[in-house]
Amino acid sequence: MPAPDSASKGLGYISSALAAPVSPVEAALRPLSFADFTGQPKTVERLKIMVGAAKRRGDALNHILLSGPPGLGKTTLAFILGHELGKAVRVTSGPVIEKAGDLAGLLTNLEEGDILFIDEIHRIPKTVEEYLYSAMEDFRLDIMIDQGPNARSVRLSIPRFTLIGATTRAGLLTAPLRSRFTLQTRLDYYDHATLHGIVQRSCGLLKVAIDDGGAREIATRSRGTPRVANNLINFVRDFAQERAAGKITQPVAAAALELLEIDAAGLDEMDKRMLRVMAENYRGGPVGMSTIAVAVGEEAETLEEVHEPFLIQEGYLQRTPQGRTLTGKGYAAVGLKAALGGEQESLL
Ligand SMILES: Nc1ncnc2c1ncn2[C@@H]1O[C@H](COP(=O)(O)OP(=O)(O)O)[C@@H](O)[C@H]1O
Ligand SMILES: [Mg+2]
Repeated sequence: MPAPDSASKGLGYISSALAAPVSPVEAALRPLSFADFTGQPKTVERLKIMVGAAKRRGDALNHILLSGPPGLGKTTLAFILGHELGKAVRVTSGPVIEKAGDLAGLLTNLEEGDILFIDEIHRIPKTVEEYLYSAMEDFRLDIMIDQGPNARSVRLSIPRFTLIGATTRAGLLTAPLRSRFTLQTRLDYYDHATLHGIVQRSCGLLKVAIDDGGAREIATRSRGTPRVANNLINFVRDFAQERAAGKITQPVAAAALELLEIDAAGLDEMDKRMLRVMAENYRGGPVGMSTIAVAVGEEAETLEEVHEPFLIQEGYLQRTPQGRTLTGKGYAAVGLKAALGGEQESLL
């Protein structure tokens, strides 16, 4: 996911935090087993059942598609599945697999029961995707080698493996690919109580001093996303060290996050800008995402993957067949009142 220069403009703290590569600190915070992983009860229950059944039968786990916004735990769950099964997890990503030969290389190096994790699976090239069908279904690949008169097809058989696909855009997957996953499960934003626990766990692992109020403040401003929470902890810890006595309390966390322009509801400047553009330039919509993207100077893809799902879930925006519309809550978030047949009034 490209993160254009919004970070350098001081906007979009959230999208740049989510787009950054996984740091060693973050990797250290990753839960390694179901016991460490809180939240997502439905998904976890489904996965536990599949793992239990596969182990009892001595079979490979069936193929699984994990979808949902970035930072909610898709990659984490793929590793947890490997750990619970005692199998290796090989990691790749859709756009990296450019041709059938790349896929063949990955698949033939797997051992029986191993997991192949394909991140951003919606971005796998169409030509490669077709090879994936027979690999997933029959554990074989028919690959063409050579060209012209020497061209011939070679059948490779591959070990029984498990494909775990992750995607932020389940809607972009083709029906044939989607239908080959036994389980398709969607991760949701975390509630404040669960995130509160995740913040405390991370602070414990990082040996960061934090009290209950501090943890609650970070949790409520993390837009339901553990990766954002972990990221904010790092900044708040630095802030506490430089501007307070080192301990993260509620006022310290609130002041630090104000400085990052993340408000009490977890909205950052890019979210606000989207809402403001819709209110001021488009009378609350309906307006298309590509239009909003141009107006705020961010890629439509980033807005759709990172910002929009949260804004919709929290009731700031609505999606209609004509485009996005702003709700009363959306207007209020940027200090405006809903347009009544024309100009909106400022509340301020
Ligand atoms: N349920 C959870 N409990 C604790 N930490 C979590 C949980 N889910 C995710 N995390 C943390 O959030 C980070 C991002 O998760 P990740 O699996 O990389 O998200 P995704 O792959 O969906 O973008 C991980 O490094 C992990 O530390
Ligand atoms: Mg991931």
